[in-house]
Amino acid sequence: MPQTKKKVAVLMGGWSAEREVSLISGGAACKALQELGHEVLAIDVQRDPLGIVQTLTLQATGKPDVIFNALHGRVGEDGTIQGLLEFIGIPYTHSGVLTSAVAMDKPMMKIVASHAGVRCPHGIVVTREEIVQDSYPMKPPFVIKPTNEGSSVGVRLVTSEEDLQKIEEDGWIYGATVLIETFITGHELTVAVLGHGHEAKALAVTELRPKGHAFYDYTAKYSSGETDHLLPAPIPQDVYDEAMRLAILAYKAAGCHGAARADFRWDDDQKGTDGLYFLEINTQPGMTPLSLLPEQAQYAGISFNDLIQWMLDHPTCPA
Ligand SMILES: Nc1ncnc2c1ncn2[C@@H]1O[C@H](COP(=O)(O)OP(=O)(O)O)[C@@H](O)[C@H]1O
Ligand SMILES: [Mg+2]
Repeated sequence: MPQTKKKVAVLMGGWSAEREVSLISGGAACKALQELGHEVLAIDVQRDPLGIVQTLTLQATGKPDVIFNALHGRVGEDGTIQGLLEFIGIPYTHSGVLTSAVAMDKPMMKIVASHAGVRCPHGIVVTREEIVQDSYPMKPPFVIKPTNEGSSVGVRLVTSEEDLQKIEEDGWIYGATVLIETFITGHELTVAVLGHGHEAKALAVTELRPKGHAFYDYTAKYSSGETDHLLPAPIPQDVYDEAMRLAILAYKAAGCHGAARADFRWDDDQKGTDGLYFLEINTQPGMTPLSLLPEQAQYAGISFNDLIQWMLDHPTCPA
């Protein structure tokens, strides 16, 4: 049983491309919170800000003590809902408004990470017209991705002109601009970080090996058995240590709070740690018991329920 029983509202669902994943994260968080003895109110977030405010403030039982934010993607992870929670004045898990907004915007986060000395793949932001006009905005192979989605939604590998034509034929799903990055061949790594400021600690490095996928795409992420998780990552110690160091550096540079997870690529053809590239940081990483952050926490000796309790005890507090 927890030392203090809290009223916890769990925000989940939403209407981003990651709704389904969020419902699973939220369900797992609710189960853990109930097992921990907290009073839990699950909220499937709809596009109804007034309704959310009413639910959170007009509870017969009183306001929640803390919000567990299990939303992923736009609105839930990009500073929007965080702004609403600041306004209402209830502490909430994970990062605050500015950090969430910066981390969700991949080009912006690349600027912040690079400035802190974290190497990122060469990248440019281009419009649809630019792609169509100059069929090669960058020498292939390159990756084309939405500037503000997650879960690999919309990420496409371009190795030839036909690939670009195919993207056009399939229908443009990206909005006005996209991020284009040099494709970093090699290994997929991820590092979860817990804490805040100088207390931020990296948990471990996991290597993801998607089976039969060119990269770590949506199916590889969420279909069971599609990807091997190698924990600890079987990579040279200097690369392992550098991934941990860079994850903390990026986390602190963006001002992350609570927990986040940094994604990397490692090209083992390059010398030493030269082939290590930061892709992005997820300020609200997946929280199903099989997700990468809980898996690394388990490896570091923190059970799923302990992790949830720890996050609850370390919320962002509205000013
Ligand atoms: N520059 C890149 N080089 C190689 N693979 C990449 C690159 N950018 C993205 N990917 C692949 O696409 C996946 C998703 O990209 P990422 O930047 O992590 O965005 P998100 O996970 O938010 O969709 C990565 O995990 C990786 O497998
Ligand atoms: Mg990612």
